Amino acid sequence: MTDKLLLAGVIGDPIAHSRSPRLHGHWLERYGIEGHYVPLHVTRERLHDTLRLLPELGFSGINVTIPHKEAVLQIADSVTDRAALIGAANTLTFTASGKLQADNTDGVGFLENIKQYTHDWSASEGPALVLGAGGAARAVVSALLTEGCPQIYLVNRTRARADALRENFGARIVVVDWTRIPDVLGDCALLVNTTSLGMVGKQPLHIDLDRLNPQTVVNDIVYTPLRTELLDEAQARGCHTVDGLGMLLHQAAPGFERWFGVKPEVDDRLRRVVLAK
Ligand code: ATR
Repeated sequence: MTDKLLLAGVIGDPIAHSRSPRLHGHWLERYGIEGHYVPLHVTRERLHDTLRLLPELGFSGINVTIPHKEAVLQIADSVTDRAALIGAANTLTFTASGKLQADNTDGVGFLENIKQYTHDWSASEGPALVLGAGGAARAVVSALLTEGCPQIYLVNRTRARADALRENFGARIVVVDWTRIPDVLGDCALLVNTTSLGMVGKQPLHIDLDRLNPQTVVNDIVYTPLRTELLDEAQARGCHTVDGLGMLLHQAAPGFERWFGVKPEVDDRLRRVVLAK
């Protein structure tokens, strides 16, 4: 036990809807840790000064959400390889001398979630089909490649963004047009939606799943709603499906461990707490 008051939080704009305070708050209570995790509304204009001030105020670290995930890389004193590769950070840790280390745990959060809800899934089993080419897709692609995924078919509305990922991540990425999804779907061991389609308030995700193989694991990183149409339709076709909430929970764990010193459990209790109205 330490005398130091342990402080961490999340910065973003907007921030009121973030579920991170509830999530970390639950872990703090569960492990009896004397600490606080607070939401901080920080605009772009205030980002630099805020990040310099937080360690002086006693913060151990901070999560970063929209719209600051890319900008913090320019401010950080050091950036992990995976954050550099993804081009964004979600977890910042302040060293004892106030230096700012930027990391990205979205990719490991994605992998841990799938591993938790499948028996013997491994990224190296076969090709993956990834829908989307935004920040979340970069984290997913980076994690899958690191884990030995042999090929990633990448589909995006704006093809140039998918091409940019291929430039970055190399020849295991194959950019596929939206209309050609049926041609590659049958081959895939994994299908992941990283777009915002299917989220409450957004347009539905419509893809032709006729050739979806029942052996394919299907994951949607959208978690509002928890059961998306994609997951329901895939399940009806006999596929194993994994919802997106676990990615949010698992991406939070490394930060909590670094800042508060306990490796936290991601379990059904935590899911219920985060889902509660
Ligand atoms: P995030 O960081 O959450 O990935 P993002 O970078 O804004 O957010 O990416 C959102 C993804 O959803 C993108 O792949 C986007 O496609 P574009 O690159 O073409 O914008 C996809 N997306 C969002 N709305 C879409 C829509 N109506 N139809 C198809 N794709 C959509």
